[in-house]
Amino acid sequence: MHHDPLFCPLRLGQLHLSNRIVMPPMTRSRASQPGDVANAMMATYYAQRAGAGLIIGEGTQIDPLGKGYAWTPGIHSAEQVAGWKQVTAAVHAKGGIMFAQLWHVGRVTHPDNIGGAQPISSSAIKAEGVKVFVDNGSDAPGFVETVTPRAMTQADIDAVVGEGVCRQRQRRPRFCGDSHSPCHDPGRHRRRGGPVPPGRPQCHGGRL
Ligand SMILES: Cc1cc2nc3c(=O)[nH]c(=O)nc-3n(C[C@H](O)[C@H](O)[C@H](O)COP(=O)(O)O)c2cc1C
Repeated sequence: MHHDPLFCPLRLGQLHLSNRIVMPPMTRSRASQPGDVANAMMATYYAQRAGAGLIIGEGTQIDPLGKGYAWTPGIHSAEQVAGWKQVTAAVHAKGGIMFAQLWHVGRVTHPDNIGGAQPISSSAIKAEGVKVFVDNGSDAPGFVETVTPRAMTQADIDAVVGEGVCRQRQRRPRFCGDSHSPCHDPGRHRRRGGPVPPGRPQCHGGRL
């Protein structure tokens, strides 16, 4: 019998967590290639940790351009959604609760990770001194400097918000919730003392 509060149940909205241990999102770069698909190894990994009160899954791109590191899983193709379903089924079978971390990394990626495209961001300003893990098709994947992104157009923003996040919510593969990560956002860089791109007009905030 545990008396430590850590092991006491917790109500989180409509969810009843069996304890207060929360596994944070941790990128593992283990998705199947090609296609960045969640797989059986990932199902085993998360099921082994289902005893935590809540698992926040690793950062998962909602759009091909939102992928930062090589081999991270996506959730924008039917194959990827099916891959995540086997993960959530394995976690639920062990009585676990899991959220997806939906992310779009903005400028903190590299053309090698996004099919040769130029990364998109709020402004066309490079994240100086920031490196990302790439697979450039050689036998030597590794960390490289980011490049200068292009500023998102309104159409880009609509695509990411509308066709990305909202569509994925509808097709959510039985996650119990979402954690949204505009990863490497200006606030995060500011907190770390890094370079901060100038703000755009504040017309794109609000609830998802
Ligand atoms: C290997 C590794 C991968 C990580 N991947 C992610 C990620 O995918 N998304 C995210 O938001 N944070 C990620 N993080 C940050 C962790 O969530 C963070 O380290 C954790 O919440 C503990 O916080 P602390 O490092 O400030 O103590 C990662 C950390 C590590 C060590």
